[in-house]
Amino acid sequence: MSVRSANNFMKRTHHCNELRPAHIGQTVTLSGWVHSRRDLGGLIFIDIRDREGRTQTVFDPSDLTPELFAQAAALRSECVVSLTGKVRHRPEGTNNAKIPTGEIEVGVTALEVLNMADVLPFQIDDPEAAAKVAEDTRLQYRYLDLRRPEMARNLKVRSKVAIATRSYMDEQGFLEVETPTLFKSTPEGAREFLVPNRREAGTFYALPQSPQQFKQILMVAGVEKYFQLARCYRDEDLRADRQPEFTQVDIEMSFIDREDIYALIEGLIKRVWKTALNLDVPTPFKRISFEEALNRWGIDKPDTRFGMELVDFSEEFKGSKFGVFGKCIEGGGVVKAINARGLAGATQGQIETMTETAKGFGAKGLAYIKVENGEWKSPIVKFFSDAEKAALTAKLQIQEGDLILFAADQWLNACEILGKIRLYCAEVLKSQGKLTIDPHQFNFLWVVEFPLLGFDRENNRWYSSHHPFTAPVAEDIALLKTDPKKVRGQHYDIVVNGVELGGGSIRIHQPDVQKTIFEELLAIPPEETKLRFGYMLEAFRYGAPPHGGIALGFDRLIAILCGTPSIRDVIAFPKTAKGTCMMTDSPSQVSPKQLRDLYIEVKGKKPEVPAASTKS
Ligand code: AMO
Ligand code: AMP
Repeated sequence: MSVRSANNFMKRTHHCNELRPAHIGQTVTLSGWVHSRRDLGGLIFIDIRDREGRTQTVFDPSDLTPELFAQAAALRSECVVSLTGKVRHRPEGTNNAKIPTGEIEVGVTALEVLNMADVLPFQIDDPEAAAKVAEDTRLQYRYLDLRRPEMARNLKVRSKVAIATRSYMDEQGFLEVETPTLFKSTPEGAREFLVPNRREAGTFYALPQSPQQFKQILMVAGVEKYFQLARCYRDEDLRADRQPEFTQVDIEMSFIDREDIYALIEGLIKRVWKTALNLDVPTPFKRISFEEALNRWGIDKPDTRFGMELVDFSEEFKGSKFGVFGKCIEGGGVVKAINARGLAGATQGQIETMTETAKGFGAKGLAYIKVENGEWKSPIVKFFSDAEKAALTAKLQIQEGDLILFAADQWLNACEILGKIRLYCAEVLKSQGKLTIDPHQFNFLWVVEFPLLGFDRENNRWYSSHHPFTAPVAEDIALLKTDPKKVRGQHYDIVVNGVELGGGSIRIHQPDVQKTIFEELLAIPPEETKLRFGYMLEAFRYGAPPHGGIALGFDRLIAILCGTPSIRDVIAFPKTAKGTCMMTDSPSQVSPKQLRDLYIEVKGKKPEVPAASTKS
């Protein structure tokens, strides 16, 4: 006899992933959704699915009353049922090796239809069919999308990793402290979301871009070791790896240096990879300076799972007859090249795409050589001396079928152009089957020694590469006044397979150094510094310990573990690329009264926007 719930339905005895040949002969009750049904020779086969898995059940008219059999015959996909029956072997030759319950089936003796389901807007029992459904439709009916086993698995991984993270941090002596999400506007970095204050006209809260300032204040407050799975908000252009609200594993520690952070995070990554994938990640991770990352891979988050590294030819092309290269070097620039092995057959369209990339960085064009039929096909080769050609052959190991691509520009630009083109070439080579990457390879590395400051030519001022609280490397402090661009920051990023997983820094804890950075280098007027950061500078005067921290992008972490390129696949209710929620249709308009209460007057008309799209 099955047990009945207080509100009178048969309660499950097992989950749908649990039954094995050892259960044969037992009477069981399963509850869940009708995953699929087949009618065969008077029998009805229904796969019933719950959160954990699925089980085949069989309705035989000789075991059931005609009413129950008729009810079973009326079941459609995604109806909700409880059923009771006897576990038995599947008939010879009908085992399904793809599912853990594939050796048994349940011969149903009782059925309760707990709810019917309308015809679905899309099919969810077939992964291939689901993959073809427009993402906007999946997001509109997210509750159906999340029933798909792939999505259910992603949520499960996310939950397990959150719990593993909390227990690891607890073992390491960290306190989880919640910080406010109604914060103050401190414009810097990304654009903020503002929240109007009904108590005082014209004043606003801002949603925090990260708990950065609160976590530093917690260090002043003596917490010593803080962490939080923190929700952050950034109103920036969205892509596959960016959402307007996202989660960070946010960490801050006192009385530490960079080595402590590296060791802590390497331990966390080890724990998480073991929990989620049962993989042992080797530590410590490689450390690469920002300069080396740019020089070799053309990006500060290098994917080191394949070669195609950048090679410098600035020495070889000094004084070259090929004006584009010679003049560039004369003007203080560099000439760099990559060898896209096997891509000599690149189409005109592909070459144009790469040229557009170069032009996007302000270059006039993109010189290239196709090595085909023993010849170097390129309009520029005629300008090259024999020595230049020999250097290219030797350093790029040129062979038949290669495509050589050049960038001649100022150092950073030349690196970044080829860094982008390298990734593009890798995608093309992957699609042609000429480059394969093992999905279980995780190349973790630390990128360190970033410049503390970058220079914004348009506005003629310095900006912080990470954020203005980052401490300079001790031996570079003297350069702050004489040569700021040479000052390195105590900033580190953790990178895996070309993804920036997290970043952080050792902070400035001396109020006078912090004030110099704000006012002298970032040229923030003193009154504005006081308005925006005054409370922090004041707090630092009452005994601030040396401290530092890091934040890992939790959604990116889970996406990597789940092997999906989009963080939308690991967030229960994500926004589209246009920042909308397809299911609840937000953002939406509000009533005139609500606006009046908030002292807000909306001017102008709502612009006509095309239907939201999740392309990125
Ligand atoms: P940062 O701005 O580098 O540092 O952010 C840390 C990490 O958060 C993730 N991330 C995002 N994930 C999804 N959507 C977004 N829009 C998004 N923006 C960032 C990235 C990134 O590496 N307070 C500092 C950390 C510190 O210094 O301790 C901070 O927020 O994975
Ligand atoms: P031009 O002399 O401008 O006709 O350029 C000669 C070749 O060099 C063309 O193939 C251009 O695409 C290429 N080229 C121009 N500027 C650059 C640059 N900054 N880096 C690499 N190639 C370039």
